[in-house]
Amino acid sequence: MQKQKFMVISFISYKGGVGKTTLSENVAVCLANANRKVCIVDADDSKNALSWGNRRGKGLVQIDVYEENNKDEIALKIQELNKKYDVVIIDSPPSQVPISDMIVLMSNLVVVPLLPKGEQETNTINQFVRKIRSLEAAKEKKIPVYFVINEYDGRTSLHKNFAETMEKTFGKRLLPSRLHNRVAYAEVTHEGKGVAEYSDPKAKAEIISLVNDLIKIIKKG
Ligand SMILES: Nc1ncnc2c1ncn2[C@@H]1O[C@H](COP(=O)(O)OP(=O)(O)O)[C@@H](O)[C@H]1O
Ligand SMILES: [Mg+2]
Repeated sequence: MQKQKFMVISFISYKGGVGKTTLSENVAVCLANANRKVCIVDADDSKNALSWGNRRGKGLVQIDVYEENNKDEIALKIQELNKKYDVVIIDSPPSQVPISDMIVLMSNLVVVPLLPKGEQETNTINQFVRKIRSLEAAKEKKIPVYFVINEYDGRTSLHKNFAETMEKTFGKRLLPSRLHNRVAYAEVTHEGKGVAEYSDPKAKAEIISLVNDLIKIIKKG
């Protein structure tokens, strides 16, 4: 297989509980299954991804998880990992802290999970977008930010309206794949697995679809 360009994909949001860790783990498993050498850098003090890595069984595809919450050291760490891996996935802290800016600036792809909730969600998204704009202006570079809707339920008009608003706001920056609310995501976390290693074909299909969205963007970029 052709050597892939080294990629840093970060999952970030200024809010907790939106799916950063869930997506980091599940996307990592899918990419590893596709023969990419993948690791996760856990930059969140709660260390959920690190514990997940420790729970992973021996028979599963290997995904190394490192911790790094020092904003002055993370860039060097990523550079070192470049030698060993094709893809580094960064699981970010759930607030606007100095390391969040570093993560955004180091990423080839920044993915923001969105929960289809009310006004508070919109405020956090706006805060994030303002920050991205100011970083882009300061560094004179475009930051490749994409959004993905998580825990979506198309039967709920709140969710449908939310998705429509996000489509209007972000256009192509809103990834076409959506993740639905599924027991599988919570279950696999406890087992140190990804849904691609579990018995829910719908969950597996939607994660593969998300990974394909990301690969398309990477290939274009
Ligand atoms: N699509 C989903 N369906 C069901 N549960 C989910 C889904 N996404 C995340 N969760 C659950 O929601 C909780 C928060 O997700 P997590 O990935 O830890 O968020 P974050 O890292 O952004 O704080 C976890 O218990 C996780 O298992
Ligand atoms: Mg987390």
